[in-house]
Amino acid sequence: MRDDLDGVLLTEQQIQNRVDELAVQIQADYADLDLTLVPVLTGCTMFVADLLRRLNIPLRLDYIGVSSYRGGAISSGEFVVTKALQLDVRNRDVLVVDDIFDTGMTLVRVQRIIQELLPRSYRACALLEKDAPHHAAARVDYIGFPIPNTFVVGYGLDYRERYRNLPFVATLKPEAMARMEM
Ligand code: IMP
Ligand code: MG
Repeated sequence: MRDDLDGVLLTEQQIQNRVDELAVQIQADYADLDLTLVPVLTGCTMFVADLLRRLNIPLRLDYIGVSSYRGGAISSGEFVVTKALQLDVRNRDVLVVDDIFDTGMTLVRVQRIIQELLPRSYRACALLEKDAPHHAAARVDYIGFPIPNTFVVGYGLDYRERYRNLPFVATLKPEAMARMEM
């Protein structure tokens, strides 16, 4: 698996340090609110696990599942809800957590779904923000790292459902990506 990697963009230590900082900020912002954390499946699995254990405030947790990428490197434009919210978020303070803010389409769609459920407040957090044009309606309040406009894997992020288990964020060699196209 490591032979497929081009380079490490963010080390495990860099990520852990930044998650520490984000947790301090989120904990302070939500100390007197009624937080429901809504991670977006599946890419933010590692991020949300690391974030959760650092948040020393009462909170509820419910995942939302949406899919537009269908496993490849380029968005298909299709969009399906693969897991709806189970908790009632009416009058609650919702913080959506996503892995990466790329075009912003995912977060816009998630935001629309959640706003219809009438939360008291809505914010979003993304571990990574790509240096790419974002959808004008996309709202992100907390960002872990700005990154270049390049395809990355690891720390939850996949290429064709692989590499999610890497504890760091890396780029793939073009030949590794091409090999998996076959
Ligand atoms: P957006 O809707 O274009 O902002 O894309 C968001 C989703 O696309 C993320 O939640 C990821 O699942 C996926 N995605 C975007 N860029 C990358 C990447 O560089 N690596 C892996 N997945 C990505
Ligand atoms: Mg993905």
